[in-house]
Amino acid sequence: MNKSIKTHEGRVALVTGAGQGIGQAIALALAERGAHVIATDLAAPEYTASRNDSVVQALQLDVTKEEDWQSVAAKARDMGGVDIVVNNAGYFPNRIVDDLDLQTWRRTMVTNLDSHFLSVKYFLPAMRQKKWGRFIGISSNIIGLAVPGMSHYMASKMGIIGFMRGLANDVAQDGITANSVLPGLTNTQATESQPDAQKRATWEQQAIKRLGEPKDITGAILFLTSDDAAFITGQAIVVDGGSYRIG
Ligand SMILES: NC(=O)c1ccc[n+]([C@@H]2O[C@H](COP(=O)([O-])OP(=O)(O)OC[C@H]3O[C@@H](n4cnc5c(N)ncnc54)[C@H](O)[C@@H]3O)[C@@H](O)[C@H]2O)c1
Repeated sequence: MNKSIKTHEGRVALVTGAGQGIGQAIALALAERGAHVIATDLAAPEYTASRNDSVVQALQLDVTKEEDWQSVAAKARDMGGVDIVVNNAGYFPNRIVDDLDLQTWRRTMVTNLDSHFLSVKYFLPAMRQKKWGRFIGISSNIIGLAVPGMSHYMASKMGIIGFMRGLANDVAQDGITANSVLPGLTNTQATESQPDAQKRATWEQQAIKRLGEPKDITGAILFLTSDDAAFITGQAIVVDGGSYRIG
C-alpha cells in the first residue's frame, strides 16, 4: 500500500470493531491515507490508536446500543462530523440450525444488522449537509459457500448487502454512497481456533492459494471510500482471493 498518497486527507472515518483483526487493519489503513480515524470497539481500542501517530482516536462503542451511537455521534460533531462509516464489528458463533436459539439469532441480528441502521440514523444527517459520505458494510463471502452452522450469520450478512443496496438509492442525490465488502476466510483471532487443515481446505478453493490477512481486505475499502469511487454504489465487492464467483 502506498502510504504517500493521501487520498483521505480531511476526511473523518469511523470504524467499528477496530480493536483487532480486520477492523484494526481498516482503521490503520485509512489513517495511513490521511483520514482522521475514530477507532471504536466494546472497550476503547487504545492499542489500535497507539499504532499510529495521532490520527487515530479510540472511543468505546458497543454497536448494539443506541445510546453509544448517540454519544459517539455527539463527540464526532466536535470534529466536524463523520464522512466515512465502516461497520465492521461482527458476531459469528457456529450453531447448527437445530441448536440455534432465539437469543443467539437476535444477538447476531442486533450486532451484525441493527448496527448498520443505527450508524445511518446518527451519521447520515452530517453527510447530507456536507453533500459527501461513504457507508461500508462488512459482509462475508460465506453467503455463497456451503458452510454448515452459519444460517443466522448468513442471514445477517445477506441483510447487510440488502440494506446497503437500499440505502444507496435513498442517499445518492447527496453525494453519498453505500457498498458492501465481502471478505473471505481471514487470519484473525476469530478464526484462530479453526484447525489448519480446515483453513487450508478453504483457501485451496481460491484462485490465490493462501489464507487472507486483514491487510488484504483494506484495499477495497480504501478505494470505495475515496473520491475515485464516487460513481460506485449499492455494490457488493468480494475480497477472497477469487473463491466466490458468480456471473
Ligand atoms: N475473519 C474472517 O475470516 C472473516 C471473513 C468474512 C467476514 N468477516 C467479517 O469481518 C468482520 C471482522 O471480523 P474479524 O475476523 O476481524 O473479527 P474479530 O473477532 O477478530 O474482531 C471483531 C471485533 O469486533 C468487536 N465487537 C464484537 N461485538 C461488538 C459490539 N457489539 N460492539 C462493538 N464491537 C464489537 C470485537 O471486540 C472485536 O474487536 C466481522 O464483521 C466478520 O463477520 C470475517
